[in-house]
Amino acid sequence: MSALPAHDALLSLRGLTTVFPTRHGEVRAADGVDLDVRPGECLGVVGESGSGKTVTFLSVLDLVRRPGRIEAGTIVFDGRDLRRLPPEALRAIRGRDIAMTMQDALTALNPAFTVGAQIAEVLEAHGRATGRSALDRAVQLLEQVGVPDPARRVGVYPHQLSGGLRQRAMIAAALACQPRLLIADEPTTALDVTIQAQVLDLIADMRQRLGMSVVLITHDLGIVAERCDRVVVMYAGQVVESGPTRQVIGAPAHPYTAGLLASMPRLNQTRAAIRPIEGQIPDPARLPPGCRFEPRCPRRRSECLQPVPMRDIVRAERAFGARAVRCVLAGAAP
Ligand SMILES: Nc1ncnc2c1ncn2[C@@H]1O[C@H](COP(=O)(O)OP(=O)(O)O)[C@@H](O)[C@H]1O
Ligand SMILES: [Mg+2]
Repeated sequence: MSALPAHDALLSLRGLTTVFPTRHGEVRAADGVDLDVRPGECLGVVGESGSGKTVTFLSVLDLVRRPGRIEAGTIVFDGRDLRRLPPEALRAIRGRDIAMTMQDALTALNPAFTVGAQIAEVLEAHGRATGRSALDRAVQLLEQVGVPDPARRVGVYPHQLSGGLRQRAMIAAALACQPRLLIADEPTTALDVTIQAQVLDLIADMRQRLGMSVVLITHDLGIVAERCDRVVVMYAGQVVESGPTRQVIGAPAHPYTAGLLASMPRLNQTRAAIRPIEGQIPDPARLPPGCRFEPRCPRRRSECLQPVPMRDIVRAERAFGARAVRCVLAGAAP
C-alpha cells in the first residue's frame, strides 16, 4: 500500500499510531495502521479481542480517552486531514458525516435520557431539527430501523429495551444525519443469532438506501464472509492482511488469517477440523521483536524474528482488488 492517502478513498489511514501509558511503559494499541475505506463499500475489520480494532476507529473520531493519545499518522476523510482540523470542525464531522455505533449499547447510550431525546440531540447538535420536530424525526428513524411501536419507544430509557432494540436505537441515532460513513463496532456481539442477522440486514439495507460506506468491526470472520466487500485483518495493533473478502477467505495469505478461518464453524466444512488458534495475543507491553504472530505461528522460521513489513501480493490497477500481507512466506508483488 502506498504511503500516501488514497485519492479515491472516503477514509484513508496512514501510519495511525495510538498509545496508552501503562505501568510497563507506553502501549501501542494501534501501531502504524494503514487502511482505506472506499465510497459505498462495506469494509470488514476483523481480529481477536485486543487487536486494536476499536482503538483505531475511536482515533478516527478523536474519541480516545486520555491519557491515551494519537501519537502519529494521518486520518484523511473526504480529502481533509482530520488531525489538522480545529476541534469544532471535527465535532461537526462527527455524527454528521461519520457516525459510530459502540460495542456495548447499554453503556454507549446515556441511561438518564430517553432514546428519543438522544436521537433528537444528534439532530439538534447538527442543526437538522429542534424540539418537537426533532422528536418526530426520532420516531421516524426508530421506525426505519425496525423498532416496533416507535411512538411509544421514543419515550423509553435505554435499559427498558432488549439488547436487539437497543442496538437498533443506537443505529438510529448514528443514522440520524445520514452519514457518509457508518462505523459499526461489533454491532451483533451481544445479540443472539437470529437478532444478529436482523441487525446486519438493517445495516446493509441502510447502506444501500443512503449510499454510505460501512466499516463493520467484528471478531467473527463468518460475518465478514457474508457481509463485507473487503477485509482488513488486525493482529496486536497492526494490519496483517487486507484484500477483497472472497480472495482473502478463499486463500488466506497470512497464517493468522488461516488460523481464524480454521476456528470458524460456519466457514469450515468439516466440523471435526475446527480448531482454535493456540496461544494468546501477545501482551502489548512485551511484543515479540519480529512478526507479532511468530510465537503462535505453525509456519514460523528464523526470518520471522525480524520485523516484517506489509507487502503487496496483488498490486491491482483498481485499488479495490489490491491484496497485501505482513508475512515472510508470501511472495512479493511481481
Ligand atoms: N483505555 C485503555 N488503557 C490502556 N490500554 C488500552 C485502553 N484501551 C485499549 N487499550 C489497549 O489497546 C488494546 C486494543 O484494544 P481494542 O482496540 O479495544 O481491541 P479490540 O477492539 O480489537 O478488541 C488492548 O488490548 C489494550 O492493550
Ligand atoms: Mg473492540
